[in-house]
Amino acid sequence: MVDTDTFVPEAVTEIGDEIGDANAVIALSGGVDSSVAAALAYEAIGDRLTPVYVDTGLMRKGETDQIRETFDYMESLRIVDAKDRFLEALAGVTDPEEKRKIIGEQFIREFEREAKDADADYLVQGTIYPDRIESEGGIKSHHNVGGLPDVVDFDGIVEPVRDLYKDEVREVARALDLDELVAERMPFPGPGLAVRVIGEVTDEKLEVAREACHVVEDELEEYEPWQALAAVIGKATGVKGDNRVHGWVVSVRSVDSRDGMTARAQEIDWEALQRIQSRITGANDNVARVVYDVTHKPPATIEYE
Ligand code: XMP
Repeated sequence: MVDTDTFVPEAVTEIGDEIGDANAVIALSGGVDSSVAAALAYEAIGDRLTPVYVDTGLMRKGETDQIRETFDYMESLRIVDAKDRFLEALAGVTDPEEKRKIIGEQFIREFEREAKDADADYLVQGTIYPDRIESEGGIKSHHNVGGLPDVVDFDGIVEPVRDLYKDEVREVARALDLDELVAERMPFPGPGLAVRVIGEVTDEKLEVAREACHVVEDELEEYEPWQALAAVIGKATGVKGDNRVHGWVVSVRSVDSRDGMTARAQEIDWEALQRIQSRITGANDNVARVVYDVTHKPPATIEYE
């Protein structure tokens, strides 16, 4: 629990003190963490904040439009189309940690460029407590922490929600009157769909994962999962018409959790699972199978890479 009555003014003051008279950029992802960080920073420094949304091509379906709508009131919002640069940097890379590092570095480069343009010396990030713990513990390098390159061209990085758990960030979001959709949104990982396709990131796999994630979030909303997702985990044989095909295997996952550190796979009705299967295979001719992941965390993680 966080006392929002004291947290909000303290965070705003701290951001103002850290940034002083300088300008800052905020990395918007559309998730609750960066949205709260943005709202706090906006309150602290107003128009000296430039919110930057990098469209990596690894985002949820419809995300860019959603961002445009949510942050419409911030006039300095910049939307950067970086899809080609991310895909090029990731081409041929199969190792999960390497993928995360490449994405983290590319992110920072994009921000640096925008920051120079906005004459900003500070970078605001929505890093939360579990991101730091998991990176420091060497479990995975989260793109916004462990993936940072050694030399970052900013005077400082400001992380106003760095000591909060996800449910506490949601409390702050409600206290700030952020759009309920944003406040209650399921977490989405910084490296996006890149950690929901096993192995090399390709346009084809991304399209399958993006549509499947959309179907899963939509169909499982009533189960109120902490997080629900789909991942492209490999290839297997299937039948389309009279032909055997070698198509994608999509794994569906829905978990309950408090903070993402541990999680329990949810029990989902057969009918809901069948609807999901039918929508995912219906949307993509090249999906051969849909499976449901029953593994808790530990021993599994929530994401696939
Ligand atoms: P795992 O897969 O480690 O995920 O069990 C725990 C929670 O963290 C999210 N996640 C990330 N978030 N950058 C992020 O901002 C990352 O690199 C990252 N990796 C995992 C994941 O979606 C889950 O909510």
